Amino acid sequence: MLKPETIEIIKSTVPVLEVHGKAITTRFYEKLFESHPELLNLFNHGNQKQGRQQTALANAVYAAAVHIDRLHEIMPAVKGIAHKHRSLGVTPEQYPIVGENLLGAISEVLGDAATPEILGAWEEAYSVIAAAFIGVETEMADEALHQPGSWAGFRKFTVRRKTAESGNITSFYLVPEDGGPLAAFEPGQYVTVQMSIPGREHLVNRQYSLSDRPGQPYYRISVKKEAGTDTRVEGVASTYLHEAVREGDTLLLSAPAGDFTLNRSVDTPVVLLSAGVGLTPLMSMLRTIRAEQPARSVAFIHSAADGRLHAMKDAVKDEGTASAAETCLRTHICYTQPTEEDKAAGAFHSEGRLTAEKLKEIMAESGEHADYYICGPVSFMRDMIGYLQESGVPAASVHYEFFGPSLNLQ
Ligand SMILES: Cc1cc2nc3c(=O)[nH]c(=O)nc-3n(C[C@H](O)[C@H](O)[C@H](O)COP(=O)(O)OP(=O)(O)OC[C@H]3O[C@@H](n4cnc5c(N)ncnc54)[C@H](O)[C@@H]3O)c2cc1C
Ligand code: HEM
Repeated sequence: MLKPETIEIIKSTVPVLEVHGKAITTRFYEKLFESHPELLNLFNHGNQKQGRQQTALANAVYAAAVHIDRLHEIMPAVKGIAHKHRSLGVTPEQYPIVGENLLGAISEVLGDAATPEILGAWEEAYSVIAAAFIGVETEMADEALHQPGSWAGFRKFTVRRKTAESGNITSFYLVPEDGGPLAAFEPGQYVTVQMSIPGREHLVNRQYSLSDRPGQPYYRISVKKEAGTDTRVEGVASTYLHEAVREGDTLLLSAPAGDFTLNRSVDTPVVLLSAGVGLTPLMSMLRTIRAEQPARSVAFIHSAADGRLHAMKDAVKDEGTASAAETCLRTHICYTQPTEEDKAAGAFHSEGRLTAEKLKEIMAESGEHADYYICGPVSFMRDMIGYLQESGVPAASVHYEFFGPSLNLQ
């Protein structure tokens, strides 16, 4: 337990550290990779370039520091991060390395302002925060290993089938090379795919949501090709998966993880809201609800640019016709830029961005007590969460997943 004086120092210095946040975290990563270049195999270099990861890690340390005397209050957030760490194979031995380099960066950036007293307090606080993470991660790893079909680290999977879902999304059906059983997972969870890409010096790790329902003899991931345009750089992993990985090839996967999961123990109405490739975890939820809780009311609201980029449209339609409980499923497809062909085919319900009015109509049909699951680009999620908040939906009923380092949108 930390002494009250130490807690006082930590709380009073967090604002100072936040002011220098970017400088500290940038220096932290430089120092981390200089002293431990093997860690370049673990981190996502794209996230580093865009600064999102710097912000995520440092903010988490500062947020934990503010709550240092009541860490239990931020345990849900700790668990979410712990899922990501576990999926990537972060080990307890790596915590002191991160701590040492973070402390070193704080000391360098603050200069004389970083007194021995302040540095000592932060060292103590970091070890308390690290212990909380290590405790949760060890517990999760133990629990996972008791589950039939689960595994530690990365397991070899064969690409059994590779199939296009739209103009830029491709599904990969993956079966374990060892022929053993597959761990169950919760709809909404993801795996980390670890790739050794020819011409790249370091391993590439990326998360992909499982896009089919649990209980199948395979795991399915569905990947959007992040195409290079004038303003965007070609995505490393997604381009490799689309262009180089073929049926019969091997991919390395960590066991399913993640806390963006469908609550299957209740039968409250569910509204699934996605844009673009954000539909993947929600497809798993939709397929699960339709198979296991066919009488549960579910609305599938999806926004795509146009018909060519609209993935899994037939699969969603099939869910509507496959069972007698058809009326429990409502779909709303919104195209932001429909083509003349889309218009002629009547392939969508509304045109343009999904508005607050549209969402309100859907909410009225789903009743007041629905649970909302949201996934898509940050701007889409921000809009949807904003609309729901304005409509008085309790924060506890709104669940969302980022396809990158998390941000706080509520
Ligand atoms: C929990 C979770 C679940 C996910 N599920 C899915 C899923 O089901 N399907 C899916 O397709 N993806 C999913 N993702 C995203 C996925 O993990 C990858 O981030 C995605 O495939 C892009 O990786 P990449 O290596 O191709 O792109 P990266 O090389 O990592 O680049 C990412 C993006 O940043 C841009 N970029 C890169 N460098 C720069 C730069 N210097 N300046 C400006 N822009 C730059 C690229 O254009 C690209 O759009 C998920 C992510 C998370 C965290
Ligand atoms: C108490 C210490 C730590 C805190 C507070 C912390 C916090 C975070 C946060 C907030 C994220 C982003 C989660 C998200 O994607 O939403 C993250 C991701 C990550 N963390 Fe940590 N972390 C800590 C320790 C470590 C350690 C010891 C390692 C291993 C060296 C590590 C490696 C990673 C990696 C590889 C990612 C994914 C980043 C990416 O995609 O590039 N973290 N961490």
